[in-house]
Amino acid sequence: MAVRAARPAGPRDLPALVALEARAFPGEAWSEAQVRDLLARPDVVALVVEDGQAVVAAALGWAAGGVSELLRIAVDPASRRRGQGGRLLSAFAAACHAAGAEELWLEVRPDNHAALALYRARGLSMTGRRPRYYADGADALLLGCPLPLAGLSA
Ligand SMILES: CC(C)(COP(=O)(O)OP(=O)(O)OC[C@H]1O[C@@H](n2cnc3c(N)ncnc32)[C@H](O)[C@@H]1OP(=O)(O)O)[C@@H](O)C(=O)NCCC(=O)NCCS
Repeated sequence: MAVRAARPAGPRDLPALVALEARAFPGEAWSEAQVRDLLARPDVVALVVEDGQAVVAAALGWAAGGVSELLRIAVDPASRRRGQGGRLLSAFAAACHAAGAEELWLEVRPDNHAALALYRARGLSMTGRRPRYYADGADALLLGCPLPLAGLSA
């Protein structure tokens, strides 16, 4: 699959987003209610990437009060390591900046090496650590960066 551009997600994308959650986050996928609630927020920033009729990647978060947070980013397992995640992250950052955010934050598990490498490659750096943040007792690493992202296109 070629690397594709993202488009804003809406309520009609709910089933595809829930299905992608199940494929990308086995054992810790968001429920349909969690995705629906996020899509209904007035400050939501949600992007999907389609390949034909199928949603193959998504980024979900919010932007408000001059800041933004990436809550979920997922690329279908069959479509990884082709640059789609990086392009989607840049598009998400650009959408947050367009919504008035001057900073982007996120949390990530220290053992999520793919996500950490992706975030660092796109200019995010570690700003802190939340002890025992996850249900299994793992810490969360806090990463952030100013917006717009420097020198990387969406
Ligand atoms: C993290 C994720 C979104 C990356 O998507 P992707 O499309 O594979 O990412 P890209 O192809 O754009 O990779 C960009 C860079 O990230 C790094 N990277 C991505 N996957 C990696 C891996 N498995 N191991 C090491 N580095 C990796 C590399 O630096 C890569 O650049 P390169 O391919 O030129 O070396 C994808 O692995 C995923 O969906 N994971 C499951 C969900 C998840 O954990 N999301 C993050 C927490 S919300």
